[in-house]
Amino acid sequence: MQFLKALSCQILALVLTITLVTLKGDVLFLNLPIVIQPLFAVLLSRLFGQPLWWIPIHLFFLPAVWVVLQLNLPAWIYLACFSLLVLIFWGTVKGDVPLFLSSPAVSRALSDIVRRQRAESLIDLGAGIGSVVIPLANRFPQMSITAVEQAPIPWLILSWRCRGIVNIKVCRDNFWDYPLGNFSVVFAFLSPKVMSRLGEKCRNELGEGSLLVSSTFPLQDRIPSSVVSLKSKKHLKLHCYKY
Ligand SMILES: C[S@@+](CC[C@H](N)C(=O)[O-])C[C@H]1O[C@@H](n2cnc3c(N)ncnc32)[C@H](O)[C@@H]1O
Repeated sequence: MQFLKALSCQILALVLTITLVTLKGDVLFLNLPIVIQPLFAVLLSRLFGQPLWWIPIHLFFLPAVWVVLQLNLPAWIYLACFSLLVLIFWGTVKGDVPLFLSSPAVSRALSDIVRRQRAESLIDLGAGIGSVVIPLANRFPQMSITAVEQAPIPWLILSWRCRGIVNIKVCRDNFWDYPLGNFSVVFAFLSPKVMSRLGEKCRNELGEGSLLVSSTFPLQDRIPSSVVSLKSKKHLKLHCYKY
């Protein structure tokens, strides 16, 4: 798990730094733990095979901690920030997909797909704060939409934003446990790590003629029936799989 690897890198780098500073603190640079700890952390991160995007996180983590400590903030602020992050990102530590929001362009492209599919129902697996489902519900008032979200704060915002929109049903649930059999379109914006599990779930549960639309991440073991590239963001693709 990447989070545990990252934590191990930081702790090992700290231990290495403290040992070096204690033994060789008189040598140039080695008396600058705030500089060498991040470098060790990056080195360890590469050795542990973490993705490249962890490098800036490892580089800035300890310096950021040091800067914040200089502010002498009261202890409850740390607890409040930690609680807020847990309530937003919820299962991310145990490997769930974190919150990223789709742009209005995704919702517009999905509208075209939904129109062509003549969809009567749609589910967003991990609906976030409703960036996709709310514009869709307004554009297709006849379509029944289900928005499943399990992180508490996104779910609260989603529920509040969907109040009064009669064709959206908001569920605080784990989407892996949610049956997909009744939906014409399943929308997902998740992560590469869960795509094979998603493919298997859709293969087992989707009815004939239903469509899986996966934003950004393709299924590894299936060729899409079509791929929609967004005009405004050419690198962003909607991968469509007909069942
Ligand atoms: C990348 S965001 C996508 C949000 C939204 N669909 C959009 O396109 O703007 C993924 C969302 O899935 C939620 N999520 C991750 N795993 C989940 C699970 N097992 N059950 C329900 N929601 C989940 C996260 O909390 C997050 O809000």
